[in-house]
Order: sequence, then structure tokens, then C-alpha cells
Amino acid sequence: MAPRNSPAGGIRPAAGRPHVGAAEGWQPPGEECMEPIGIGIVGAGFAANQHAAAYQAVTRVPVNLVGVASRTPERAEAFARRHGFAFATTELAALLARPDVHLVDVCAPNFAHEEILVAAARAGKHVICEKPLTAFFGDPTDPARMRDEARASVQRIHEAVQQAGVHFFYAENWIYAPAIQKAMRLCEAAGGTLFDIRAEEAHSGSHSPYARQWRTSGGGSLLRLGSHPLAAALYLKRREGLRRSGTPIRVASVTCEVANVTRIPSFTQEPTRWVASGWQDVEDWATLLLEFTDGARASIAASDIVLGGIRNRMELYLSNGRIDCNLNPNNTCVAYAPSPEVFGDEYIAEKLDTKAGWSFPSINEDWFQGYPQEIQEFVECVATGREPLSDMSLAADVVEVTYAAYQSAREGRRVLLA
Ligand SMILES: NC(=O)c1ccc[n+]([C@@H]2O[C@H](COP(=O)([O-])OP(=O)(O)OC[C@H]3O[C@@H](n4cnc5c(N)ncnc54)[C@H](OP(=O)(O)O)[C@@H]3O)[C@@H](O)[C@H]2O)c1
Repeated sequence: MAPRNSPAGGIRPAAGRPHVGAAEGWQPPGEECMEPIGIGIVGAGFAANQHAAAYQAVTRVPVNLVGVASRTPERAEAFARRHGFAFATTELAALLARPDVHLVDVCAPNFAHEEILVAAARAGKHVICEKPLTAFFGDPTDPARMRDEARASVQRIHEAVQQAGVHFFYAENWIYAPAIQKAMRLCEAAGGTLFDIRAEEAHSGSHSPYARQWRTSGGGSLLRLGSHPLAAALYLKRREGLRRSGTPIRVASVTCEVANVTRIPSFTQEPTRWVASGWQDVEDWATLLLEFTDGARASIAASDIVLGGIRNRMELYLSNGRIDCNLNPNNTCVAYAPSPEVFGDEYIAEKLDTKAGWSFPSINEDWFQGYPQEIQEFVECVATGREPLSDMSLAADVVEVTYAAYQSAREGRRVLLA
């Protein structure tokens, strides 16, 4: 499993192919390439569990679940037992020292991404990184410095990956969600101008303690949740540009507002809290307006204050068509229960507050969100040497636009991108 040959240079988008995540029509490589791809996962929480389930669903490429490195030994060991990883450690170096680990999958909190990615790349491992690629973790009061330092962190990761000649995969599941891939193909078939994108990711608040403070998260709802619809919007306009002229359409300017609506006095006095609260120095609500270089617009909403289960939506307004993507909830199945006990332990949907009343039970929720498809593509890329749809360039753009958005929110003005 040799590192790939990687050209030096700036962060450019990979050519990309018009396919649905898990490669359609892809044939397994020859027998000589079929050494199992050894997986080392970092972190043992929510995202790591989703990825581990996705490795178990990988087809056509043999994978070997070698080990997990995480912070708390008992949780790392329980994770390894649950998903069939051969060993658990609290030492990243122990995972990286294993020659049978070829691909390191970073599912640790945001503040740890850079250090783990750089160490893994230097150890010659291909790397997957959960969103966001990286962020700024210092005092969030100087937006120009935040933006510069976040950009510098991206650059350090990019250089480490380039110098090591390893693959980098950006685990942005929206890019691999079947609805987004279908929308992309419909846009390509329509050939019209994508005038306006309206997209949202929202739920009733993160479970993770690392999400509550800037020094471990690097941002609030805008970064944690907005990164998903933002990446999908960037991806669709990028592909439109490549189709039209061979040059991606990128973001020209951003205007943003962030807020802490869970600090509204009337809410703080309510006896029952249905949405998460206790955010320290990170926002729980954000709205972002993008102007693209061709003049198109996008509006992205992200918040931790929405009840009724996770809400992942994207609407596309084209000059010759319209597309609505409901990643979650969708009405493949609709159910009613007069009380919350009726459906017992049967899973309904991520972050749903109650099983009473009408609900939208998720059928293969991970598939609708694109998790198995992204992992399938990443292991296929390692096996074949091809580039992924969700790459370093997209990861870098998400950080760049997000921190320009924080600058806009802090300074109360539109911010231009280079
Ligand atoms: N794509 C998606 O839909 C999605 C969804 C959720 C999260 N994410 C991303 O996934 C990443 C993890 O988030 P999460 O929700 O899984 O968080 P989480 O549930 O809090 O889990 C984080 C895990 O990382 C471990 N950890 C903490 N510091 C570490 C370090 N320095 N080195 C190695 N492991 C460390 C934690 O250990 P302890 O058990 O000791 O705390 C925990 O097992 C974040 O970057 C987040 O943005 C993506």
C-alpha cells in the first residue's frame, strides 16, 4: 500500500467524476492490489461509531480493522470490542507505528485534527478527516487573526500530506448523500444556471462536550453544522464552473450573522429545556449569505435550536429547474403513536425529542446521509490511487469561507474572499 505520487502545488480541486459516492461500475483491482487496507481510527465517539459501521459495509475492497486510538482507555476498549477492531490504545504513536495500518481515520474533536493528521501523514499513512478539517482554537475576539491562523493550519496539513505523498480524504458525508449526488446529476443534465441555493443543517444541540467551547471546537453552529450544507453548495457551484468553462465557480464574498438565542431571558426561565443550552463562548444560531464569482447566491442556516429531529435540507433554484433535497427528515416512512412508549426501543431518527405523535422513521439513516458511500469511496481510492470527490481543496474552502463568515459577523460587514 505505497503512498501515491502527489504533485506539489496549491490546493486544487480534483477533477472529480459524475458518479454516486460508491463508484458505479467500478471493478475491483487485480489480485496483486488486494492486500487488505488496514484501518486505524482515532476517537471513539459519535463520528467514530458511524465510520466503524460504514467499514463493516464496505464491499469489493478487503479492509482490516486494525486498531483504535482514543483518549479514555475504557471507551477505546469498548469501541474496539463493539466494532471488531483488533486493539485499542490511548497512544496515537502506537497506532501509527503499526505497519498494517494504511489509512488513519480522524474522528477526534476538531482541536486535535491538525496534530493527528500531520503525525499520520508523516508516518506514511493515508488520512481521512472528519469535518471541519481544522479551525482556530484561540481567543475568538480577533476575527482577522482567527482567519489567518485557521488558514495557516490548513496550509500545514496540506504541506504534510503533499510532502508525505499520501491521500487525503475529507469526510463530508453530504457530498456522498444520494440526494445531493442525484441533485448534482440533475443539474448537469439540466445545464441551466444555478441561481440560488438554500440549505440548512440544524438540530436540538450537540451531544459532545467538545462542541461547547471554542478552544476545543473552533466555532459554534456555523462551523459544526453549517460546514455540511456549505460544502455541498461549494461543491455544486464548483462542478457547474468546471462544466461550463473548466474553472470552478467559487465564493466571492460572505455576509454572516451569528447569535446565542438560548440566552434569551424568557428561555433561560423556562422550566423544561427541550433544546441544548450551556454553550460557553460559541454561537447556537448562524445564517450565512454567499455571493459566488458568477453572481449566484446561497443562503446557509445552521443552528442548535431546532426540535423535531435533525433537519438536513437543500433547495436548488436553477434557470430551468428546481430541486429539493430532504436528507433528513424524509417521508419514506411516516408513523404515528399516541404516546412515546408505543414504538419501544425501535429507532426513529437522529435527535428526535419524542416518539409520540407523527414522526418520520429513518430507514437506513446512515445511507441517506452518505456515510457508507464516503467510506466506500475512500477505501476504493486507496486501492486504485484515484482522487475522491471530497478532497483537500473542498476542506480548505470550507474553513476559508467559514472564517470569513466569522469575520463578517464580528465586524458587521460583507467580507470579500481572495
Ligand atoms: N459528519 C458528521 O455528521 C459528524 C457528526 C458528528 C461529529 N463529526 C465530527 O467528528 C469529530 C468527532 O466528533 P464526535 O461528535 O464524534 O465527538 P465525541 O462523540 O465527543 O467523540 C470524540 C472522541 O474523540 C476522543 N478524543 C478526545 N480527544 C482526543 C485526542 N486528543 N486524541 C484522540 N481522541 C480524542 C474522545 O475521547 P473521550 O471519550 O475520552 O472523550 C471521544 O472518544 C469532530 O470533528 C466532529 O466535527 C461529524
